[in-house]
Amino acid sequence: MISKNTIEKVFDTARVEEVIGDFIQLKKSGANFKGLSPFTDERSPSFMVSPVKQIWKDFSSGKGGNVVSFVMEHEHLTYPEAIKYLAKKYGIEIEETQQSSEEKKKASERESLFLVSEFARDYFQQQLLETPSGKAIGLSYFKERGFTDDTIKKFELGYAQDEWENFTKAALKKGYQLSFLEKTGLTIVKQEKQFDRFKGRVMFPIHSISGRVLGFGGRILKTDKKAAKYLNSPESDIYNKSKILYGLYFAKQSIAKEDNCYLVEGYTDVIQMAQKGVENVVSSSGTALTSDQIRLINRLTKNITVLFDGDDAGLRASLRGIDLILEQGMNVKVCTFPEGEDPDSFARENNPVEIRAYLEENAQDFIQFKASLLVSEAKNDPVKKAELTRDMVMSIAKIPNAIQQEIYIKECAHIMQVSEEVLFSTLAQIKAKNERDTKKQQRKEQKAFEVHKKEDQTTEALPKINPKEVLEHKIISLLIKHGHEDSLFLDVEIDLDEDEQVVMNEIKIEAKVYEKIFKDLQDDETDFSHPVFKSLKEKIEKELASTGQIQPQKFIQQLTPEEAEVVTHILMEDEKYKLHRWEDVNIIVTDKSKLDPGEVVQTILNLRRLLIHERVDAFNKEIKEGNVEEIQAVLKDIMDYKKLEVLIAKRLSRVT
Ligand code: CTP
Ligand code: MN
Repeated sequence: MISKNTIEKVFDTARVEEVIGDFIQLKKSGANFKGLSPFTDERSPSFMVSPVKQIWKDFSSGKGGNVVSFVMEHEHLTYPEAIKYLAKKYGIEIEETQQSSEEKKKASERESLFLVSEFARDYFQQQLLETPSGKAIGLSYFKERGFTDDTIKKFELGYAQDEWENFTKAALKKGYQLSFLEKTGLTIVKQEKQFDRFKGRVMFPIHSISGRVLGFGGRILKTDKKAAKYLNSPESDIYNKSKILYGLYFAKQSIAKEDNCYLVEGYTDVIQMAQKGVENVVSSSGTALTSDQIRLINRLTKNITVLFDGDDAGLRASLRGIDLILEQGMNVKVCTFPEGEDPDSFARENNPVEIRAYLEENAQDFIQFKASLLVSEAKNDPVKKAELTRDMVMSIAKIPNAIQQEIYIKECAHIMQVSEEVLFSTLAQIKAKNERDTKKQQRKEQKAFEVHKKEDQTTEALPKINPKEVLEHKIISLLIKHGHEDSLFLDVEIDLDEDEQVVMNEIKIEAKVYEKIFKDLQDDETDFSHPVFKSLKEKIEKELASTGQIQPQKFIQQLTPEEAEVVTHILMEDEKYKLHRWEDVNIIVTDKSKLDPGEVVQTILNLRRLLIHERVDAFNKEIKEGNVEEIQAVLKDIMDYKKLEVLIAKRLSRVT
């Protein structure tokens, strides 16, 4: 368990705008920042971050919360994982409270796989930097490739000795379980024997977007024709090849800042370019690019530049990748290197200014790039030219934006010397076919769904709005926004006169909003029905009683993610209004955040009316079921409640 002290330190240090800024481009908007939602595919920004309140709200998905909940949501981490992520970012040392052996066992399996992988990273690093063979073989290899000490440390490069079980023995000795070593693929278990997967290789740890080690790539050093040049960790619960990009952890900030991402093929390309100051580089590590990988980039920028060395296999893989990028509405450029060069060798031979200049001058949009293939492949071959043109239009058809499509069609017509009309009609054909295919697919899915629906007919289709919860939410909102304010309330006091008749006296009460609310709720001897609102109400009560006010930033720290989401929503309601109107200078924004004491009284009266209703209903039910002994007394109660209800209705009509 992470100590409370550490958690507090993390909350005190972490700035929500900085943390979110690592993933999303944020622009200043008044006192807040806004950006594109990372949770939906939107084009106009509805994601808000308040540096003052230290909260965020995504108006398109409805999500929101504090800095920790953002990391949890965005990185799919658990609460402790998110705290650790933030602690790492801000250099806060993590204090663990003592764990019982029971708790240790329970520590999730995933976490164990991470821990084993991180031990392996440290071990390989230590082997590289501190053992004679590591220095003589591994380190000198990296040095030969031109990697500096800083680069080697930054990318946490390492070395695995050319021995059968050095690593496995070291890990077992440290107490790591064999099953986890096997599950991460670091150890291969065969009957009674155990072997290291990586031997005689330099090691490249593969990091998650938040910097945890998921797996490894190991490059062989001997020239052995039979062994693979690179050996990678197998897929595991933490390592899913199609969903990670090598280098993203180191590149993410630069990608967002430069608003572009370079995509290369290998580990060494990423490292060499980064060493030369081009840090916005990631690699799909030799496998074909996947939509999931593109989505990772899409959260940071809309622009991808694919770099490759021009060998045939790589080229075809990249072409497929281009269509996947276009499908996500992103802009894609392609840049090739001179013959015999890859980004690694090119970056090594040139200085940062030359590298940047080369990339800028040689990056082509995908149409130009495909056309350039024509020059080499299909120059005088009309059949190939027609094929290639159709191929270009197929790619253009993937673009979701019609205006962009038109621009590219025009460019394509110009380059390929084909009339625009022909291309537009080809595009229309392709689109129509795609649409037919999607419809077919949808019908299939619909059918599957219908079968499913029949089975589920007994369940309610629509969620009902619970009026009581609406009022409970309103009360929470009033407490959060105005709890500490002094106010004058015009209210009614309900009492019984000598004849036991319900009477209503008008009174004026001077009190703080929260005092008024809590007193009234207490008088009604009632609790909130919604579990989150109920616990939230209790925390608000405690906070106001002890500090006299709610400071959103401090208060949200104590909340569960569900509670924090409610509070964030309330605090951001006004911001939403500003968001939609923010460009429209002439609109006068009414000051919604001003307290209206009538609203407080009204809300409580409404809640009371509901409670009375419920109680009357309950009495009626009991009478019907014959559970009541003293019918007369109960009937009298009902009468009183009914009168009360009328009085409240009257009172309400006066305050509204
Ligand atoms: N790769 C792999 N397995 C192989 C070969 C390649 O996983 N047997 C992956 C690695 O991620 C590698 C990338 O594909 O970085 C590109 O391969 P390649 O161009 O052959 O390697 P380089 O990165 O150029 O490696 P080096 O410069 O070290 O030869
Ligand atoms: Mn290379």
